[in-house]
Amino acid sequence: MSDTSKRIAVFGAGYVGLVTAACFAELGHRVAVRDVLVDRIAALRRGEVPIYEPGLDDLLERNRERLSFTTEVGEAMDGAEFVYVAVGTPPTYSGDADLSAVWTVIDELPRVDHRVVVAMKSTVPVGTGEKVRLRLDARGLEHVGYASNPEFTAEGTAVADFLEPDRIVIGSFDETDGEAVAALHDGIDAPIVRADVASAEMIKLAANAALMTRISFINEIANVCEATGADVVKVAEGIGHDRRIGKSFLRAGVGFGGSCFPKDSLALKQLAANSGYHFQVLNAVIEVNELQKRRVIGKLVELLGSLRGKRIALLGLAFKPNTDDTREAPAFVLAGRLLAEGADVVAWDPVAGADGLYGVEQVATVEEAARGADAAVLVTEWPQLNDVDWAVVAQGMRTPVLVDGRNMLDPQAMRAAGFTYDAIGRAAATGSA
Ligand code: UGA
Repeated sequence: MSDTSKRIAVFGAGYVGLVTAACFAELGHRVAVRDVLVDRIAALRRGEVPIYEPGLDDLLERNRERLSFTTEVGEAMDGAEFVYVAVGTPPTYSGDADLSAVWTVIDELPRVDHRVVVAMKSTVPVGTGEKVRLRLDARGLEHVGYASNPEFTAEGTAVADFLEPDRIVIGSFDETDGEAVAALHDGIDAPIVRADVASAEMIKLAANAALMTRISFINEIANVCEATGADVVKVAEGIGHDRRIGKSFLRAGVGFGGSCFPKDSLALKQLAANSGYHFQVLNAVIEVNELQKRRVIGKLVELLGSLRGKRIALLGLAFKPNTDDTREAPAFVLAGRLLAEGADVVAWDPVAGADGLYGVEQVATVEEAARGADAAVLVTEWPQLNDVDWAVVAQGMRTPVLVDGRNMLDPQAMRAAGFTYDAIGRAAATGSA
């Protein structure tokens, strides 16, 4: 083993922790993953991957020899030179981030004689690093270093995002700790942004807020397109060519979901509010997104009248394709609203389950979901939907109404397949203004 190979303990075997562990192992480091979930650790030891993330299973398999999994803090920390914190930080009732899992890791760190650097991967409020520093010092662990090393990986592309990132951000109190964390990434070709800890923490929150702002912005443009007879897909293409604006994150749809954006928007809003600042743009971004998730209901009522007793097929449950994650998924909000309107809801998703959606029937194929339905709503743009024979689907429906909540399908082709087709912000393309 080369002398650049380090020993890393990763606390948390969720999406972020497992991707971090697998990727560091791929870079040649020895990584021990620790989680309190006994079943999860047992599964990982058996070689099973408890989450759906493309490429992760291969990476874990390929680097098996450099990876270990444990529930024991002591075992994970044995010889560790770096401690990566990758535990959940869900919102509390007040909208602040719940840092209890972070504090547990910090408080459980055993006494060590050698230099260990704690690196924060979990998304935390600005100021957390400062508090961790104080807590470590109070425990007599002044010699334990601290760095903020936020993640910018998106679910579904997390492995590639980690190994080929746009940038690596490292904030540290101590120059040497920052350098040591930077050196862990040797082999990755990306700019490294070195910063103070608070700025690194803010970079993470600001990056997500910027992306969310683009989504809510294009969704509002879409809504105005609908009212005025324009096509948001064309508009996004037209503005995206401007290099100052760029093309990404301008897909209008049923709003953003997932384990990050909704949580992080609340956390940043609360962080600002706690210091007496009213973050107006962010508040609008959140509100637009909430309304956007519900807009499809209005479209269905326009097309079908009352939804009571109507059978509605939801195509897609995951908050985006290539993941089984349904946290804050727009499909769940839609299902809840449809059930409240008295509709019968049937759902299809190639990977995600309808767990927690009481009263929703889940079926194995798109054709089955649409059979006898009064309308279908495309909620998640799964690539599998490109291979569907839509004419057959239309024929099987009670009324062939399709609302494309992701502007995935071609309006002309859908009309030719027999659908009354509507989408998001596509009045010019769908003739629905
Ligand atoms: C997001 C960020 O993209 C990552 O950089 C970040 O590291 C991560 O959050 C995090 O904080 O951990 P993720 O939530 O996995 O990643 O997924 P995205 O691909 O960003 O999509 C989020 C939501 O926005 C999805 O519901 C997606 O459908 C929606 N979206 C995205 C749109 O509605 N329109 C777009 O143009 C892009």
